[in-house]
Amino acid sequence: MVTIWIPALADDGPRYRAIANAIASAITDGELEPGDRLPPQRQLADALSVTVGTVSRGYAEAERRGLIAGEVGRGTFVRGPSGHDPWPETSDESGAIDLSLSLPTRLPEEATMLGDTLREIANGPRVDELLAYNPRTGTPQQLTAGAQWLGRVGLRAGADQVLLTAGSQHGLNAVFGALFGRDAVVLAGELTYPSIKVIARSFGVRLRPIELDQQGMIPEAIERACRQEPGPVGIYVVPTVQNPTSATLSAKRRQAVAEIAREHELWIVEDDIHAMLPPKPHQPIAALAPERTIYLSSVSKCLAPGLRTGFVLAPPPLRARMLSAIHATLWMPPPLMVELTRRWIVDGVADQLLARKRADTHRRQKLVKRILGHHDPLIDPYGYQVWLPIPEPLHTDEFVASARERGVIVVGAGAFAIGGRQPPAAVRLSIGLPDLPRLEKALHIIDELLITGAAPSY
Ligand SMILES: Cc1ncc(COP(=O)(O)O)c(C=O)c1O
Repeated sequence: MVTIWIPALADDGPRYRAIANAIASAITDGELEPGDRLPPQRQLADALSVTVGTVSRGYAEAERRGLIAGEVGRGTFVRGPSGHDPWPETSDESGAIDLSLSLPTRLPEEATMLGDTLREIANGPRVDELLAYNPRTGTPQQLTAGAQWLGRVGLRAGADQVLLTAGSQHGLNAVFGALFGRDAVVLAGELTYPSIKVIARSFGVRLRPIELDQQGMIPEAIERACRQEPGPVGIYVVPTVQNPTSATLSAKRRQAVAEIAREHELWIVEDDIHAMLPPKPHQPIAALAPERTIYLSSVSKCLAPGLRTGFVLAPPPLRARMLSAIHATLWMPPPLMVELTRRWIVDGVADQLLARKRADTHRRQKLVKRILGHHDPLIDPYGYQVWLPIPEPLHTDEFVASARERGVIVVGAGAFAIGGRQPPAAVRLSIGLPDLPRLEKALHIIDELLITGAAPSY
């Protein structure tokens, strides 16, 4: 339980708002938890060298956003789960329509494909090898399939260069563990994949936010962030269908990221988890700056997250460190799952699934455009995330709570924000999980809430 919490305030904007933003970030980052008591106003005012009135306004603003609540005679406490929870409850227990989890669409035929391949594996000649340790994280055939997979985005790699991980999340943990020491500064989009905040925190790494526009990270903002002290050592980029904004970096911006990273000697952590969603993949930054890019690919978002398989390319001097981080965290990804993925890659099942999932995503996007198009959502033609602005006077957290009351789970921008900045008024909808009738119902509820205004949830 945190009793004395003294935030570092962002330099920009009014102080009271900086206090509310710091509360929001601390909740998102797990530094403050539901039930934690905030410092008495006078104590915080003294610690921050501001007036009690400013702290009072800051707390009132945080209360208006649904983040905290004051109790007469007891103090001010962090409220229970809100739109800032990066992993909200799923529909399993509540029956709500879950648009919070970034999952690819599921196809009915997948179960049959899975059964067929498992039977093939079971009847194969050396099935017992799948029960052994593998010092190279995978068999030569599995690493060759990885090289083939990476070749689809134009990365030429020999099987001996490929590293296997249990998905991108595991790969990111390995990269942060292998490359970044305590207090290292790593640049990331001001709205970013929530787990990267958790990973950074666990390694004591500080994330510095980079401004985004509709095309993703702004190169001038990266330049500016590189000139700040202490200088960064790395940059985390999701170049294709960025999570959560859906922005895809243009070829020009990819080039700019590569050049800036070279000039400032940054490692580039390229999380290209959505690389295979477009039928013609974009050129990875790793192809432009191979000497400093750790490229992470995963089958989670284009085939199925339960496969827990990722392929990583790292510059040769980093390979041994990466391998050791993979071994230290997991020894190796489960061989059976990697073998399943390998077969799907080499026998064409992966291609079939990709094509069918694209068609299904297209149908879902059509629904979004028809029902929510007039609210100006941002959506990539091949992505299944929708970044939806919340218009004034609605407040994002209140909107998230109202949607929840109406049985729809969405994630507010605060869950993705870093650096204590005020998140934009927006929510992320992930349209891959519910079946089409339930998705349509959820989208109508959201449309209605946007038009009629969300009733405050407290
Ligand atoms: C940007 C991003 N990176 C990584 C991951 C984790 O992916 P994996 O299932 O490959 O571990 C996710 C999952 O949502 C993601 O959105």
